[in-house]
Amino acid sequence: LQAGTTVTVLDDFSSGHRSNLAPHPDLIVVEGDVRDPAILDTAMTGIDTVFHLAASAGNKRSIDDPLTDSDINVMGTLRLLLAARDKGVRKVVASSSAAVYGELQGLPIGEDHRLAPQTPYASSKIAMENHALAFADLFKMDVVCLRYFNVYGQRQRFDPYGNVIPIFANRLFAGEPITVFGDGEQTRDFVHVDDVVAANLAAARTTGISGTYNIASGTQVTVNVLAQMMVAAVGGREPILYAPERAGDVRHSLAASGAARQAFNFAPQVGLGAGIPRYIKWL
Ligand code: UD1
Repeated sequence: LQAGTTVTVLDDFSSGHRSNLAPHPDLIVVEGDVRDPAILDTAMTGIDTVFHLAASAGNKRSIDDPLTDSDINVMGTLRLLLAARDKGVRKVVASSSAAVYGELQGLPIGEDHRLAPQTPYASSKIAMENHALAFADLFKMDVVCLRYFNVYGQRQRFDPYGNVIPIFANRLFAGEPITVFGDGEQTRDFVHVDDVVAANLAAARTTGISGTYNIASGTQVTVNVLAQMMVAAVGGREPILYAPERAGDVRHSLAASGAARQAFNFAPQVGLGAGIPRYIKWL
């Protein structure tokens, strides 16, 4: 909207909040399900670029309900691609996940790392990537899949399937202890939402780069260190508790993000040191 374009949002508001979308004369909001071809047809009319973020997100959720996970992530994506093709959309930027790699074979993880899904979510993201890339090939569509590592930041929702940073922050604000799963020495590559937005825009604006790219900070932090940073940022005095390791968790994660830099000049700007206080302030 800031760039002066018209934006249509298709969302079923199953996560996130409608109130995040401030009214704007050039903003159209279509409420509906990405699996509904009629809604997709409406939303896709006159569209040049699609940012496909609709998903059932998360490993734990997919273990609890694998059918819904694949229905949304695989069939929803396929329907979206069909609508995009039929409406002559120029570019699709699709959101994938680092979960596709499973347990890492070596650090850092490049895009050519083997794919070894450990959860239905990881499998569904691999399937949606493959559909997207097949469409790029078959129908000469410009399609980019972005494999996000652990995204966090302002407006991130907090629910039972939420991610670690919103969970820790909300518990600490409520004066409750936080729980680390396993020994806390597992690592993650946290990428701030502002960097993810920048990556989406850069990928959309660059033509001829159909393919799959890691979107990450390129830095690694243990969950123990993250927990300490969160306690310090909130100023809490709550104890850090430990619980058994979570099913489907990978041990380590760290991205090589050179491919995105080379293809569309993506360079992450927001480290955890700046990003956590920004999130806490918003919350
Ligand atoms: C995974 C994917 C990520 C994907 C996300 C979707 C990997 C490396 N990352 O994130 O790309 O977008 O799913 O949801 O596969 N934890 C605690 N205590 C808590 C909550 C979590 O210790 O209360 C720990 C988890 O055990 C894990 C880490 O924090 O080690 C991060 O967990 P979470 O935020 O759920 O994300 P991932 O499952 O790593």
